Amino acid sequence: MLTIGSYLNKEKRTIMENLQTSYLGLKLRNPLIAGSCGLTNSISNIKELAKRGVGAIVIKSLFEEQIHVETEKVIKTDQDGVRTFTHAPETIFSRRIYDYDEAYSYIYDFAKRNTIEKYLDFLKEAKSSVDIPVIASINCVSNQDWHAFAKKIEETKVDALELNIYILPSDWRRSGEDNEKIYYDIIREVRNYVNLPIAVKIGYYFSSLAQSVQKLSQSGIKGLVLFNRPYNTDIDIDTIGLSHGSIYSSSEEFTHTLRWISILSGHVSCDLSASTGVHDYKAFIKQLLAGATTVQIASALYREGFDVIPEILNKTGEWMKTHSFATVGSFRGKLSKSNLENPAAIERVQFMKLYSGIE
Ligand SMILES: Cc1cc2nc3c(=O)[nH]c(=O)nc-3n(C[C@H](O)[C@H](O)[C@H](O)COP(=O)(O)O)c2cc1C
Repeated sequence: MLTIGSYLNKEKRTIMENLQTSYLGLKLRNPLIAGSCGLTNSISNIKELAKRGVGAIVIKSLFEEQIHVETEKVIKTDQDGVRTFTHAPETIFSRRIYDYDEAYSYIYDFAKRNTIEKYLDFLKEAKSSVDIPVIASINCVSNQDWHAFAKKIEETKVDALELNIYILPSDWRRSGEDNEKIYYDIIREVRNYVNLPIAVKIGYYFSSLAQSVQKLSQSGIKGLVLFNRPYNTDIDIDTIGLSHGSIYSSSEEFTHTLRWISILSGHVSCDLSASTGVHDYKAFIKQLLAGATTVQIASALYREGFDVIPEILNKTGEWMKTHSFATVGSFRGKLSKSNLENPAAIERVQFMKLYSGIE
């Protein structure tokens, strides 16, 4: 098994120390973060991830629907005993979707199995198991009922809170402005109850992504995680039914995040954490060069195993040595587009050059 201790000699350990980073106001030994996923849902994995060297860990998300079920805001039983959801995150789903029996049962059973109390106990245990920052995570869709438990998250002594705001702008009745308002409502509401540093994880479905991210960065949050990888719908042509794409990213997917980290770095008022498609040290270094404060990995942990952590850190150390970078700060953002007034014009020319040359 590779761990930082066994993996790095003294010289390299000095380089590790120079990977020290500040994220959300927290001190991290390096910018590599284990992103929220099923692997951050067990104490033994959390200890193992810390041992292999990650700078911080984002715990598997609690889903907002659990909170509504527990606060019983979500269920209404009519005179005939028919149960329906009274709270539906109208923000993204129409109430009718939650009224489907299958959706109702799934969420209700899921919430019963995964109670808030269990989650809070898990956060406490996770925090006391490792000496690196532990970040709680909530997957949210509305600004309701936060008072019921937000303070309790703080009491677990976790270091920060990541809000994964999942809004698919597919509701015909809602404008872009309506959808964006939800982000601010959630952030305001959570900030009312929590003094912890907050990071917001978002998708990329905004009509003017650069401006939206810039405005979000000014809303009192400490970090933005770019991007949430959406659930991908697929179609099975044998069963002629709906299916879904791979839950894991591929190593080609990092370029989308890279573009936006590069465009946004230097133009936002909070930290940027790169997420999606980082599977090796090269993609890790690229995100830092583009201006990411930290880089999160999830699929790579599933696909490559936990040894990918010391592998990324060690190879990054070697690369820094080769290029005479003594600290991560000395190369972070070196290739961001912060000096470009209109990156789209540059991209347009590059696009024309590249694609027009292929016949
Ligand atoms: C099995 C699995 C479970 C996940 N669960 C969560 C979750 O609970 N909360 C969350 O914010 N992201 C979750 N994610 C998304 C990851 O944190 C990450 O944003 C996404 O997988 C893209 O990063 P990657 O390319 O490194 O995997 C999950 C990802 C996987 C593969």
